[in-house]
Amino acid sequence: MAAVLAMPGVLVGLGSLGEESVPGGFVIGRVAADEAEILTLAVTGTARRRGLGRALLDWMASQVAAHGAGRLILEVSAGNDAARALYRGAGFTEIGRRRAYYPDGSDALVLERVWVGQEPAAL
Ligand SMILES: CC(C)(COP(=O)(O)OP(=O)(O)OC[C@H]1O[C@@H](n2cnc3c(N)ncnc32)[C@H](O)[C@@H]1OP(=O)(O)O)[C@@H](O)C(=O)NCCC(=O)NCCS
Repeated sequence: MAAVLAMPGVLVGLGSLGEESVPGGFVIGRVAADEAEILTLAVTGTARRRGLGRALLDWMASQVAAHGAGRLILEVSAGNDAARALYRGAGFTEIGRRRAYYPDGSDALVLERVWVGQEPAAL
């Protein structure tokens, strides 16, 4: 994780619910020229299904757009129904599949969201 955070163009967001002071989730992304990638997104078990994952995703999209990216990509396990539903609802579409990419043998789906020409606030 330290090596990831030291890479150029890395952005990190912490999110908490309501008045809670302890973060319930985080997102790490990376901008490279006009493209960006989500490296990690996670919400702790007790904070899930309360909008934090979507808020972190939207925050990262607006941040990378403000840094000049017009496209956001990520990889998600084909068996990760929760994350796939989150990304689908946020307008991501499948552009590729990496067979047996994860240690458990599951495929990775490559998803993208493109917003070239849109205002970041419309994300
Ligand atoms: C995926 C994850 C980040 C979602 O975070 P979250 O805060 O629970 O997501 P949200 O509450 O913002 O949910 C937004 C939408 O995503 C979808 N969604 C989220 N969790 C879901 C689930 N368990 N089953 C079905 N749909 C789900 C729903 O459409 C949901 O909207 P709704 O609650 O109005 O129906 C969280 O489950 C997580 O951290 N999982 C483990 C780590 C992980 O898989 N990260 C992604 C790696 S690519």
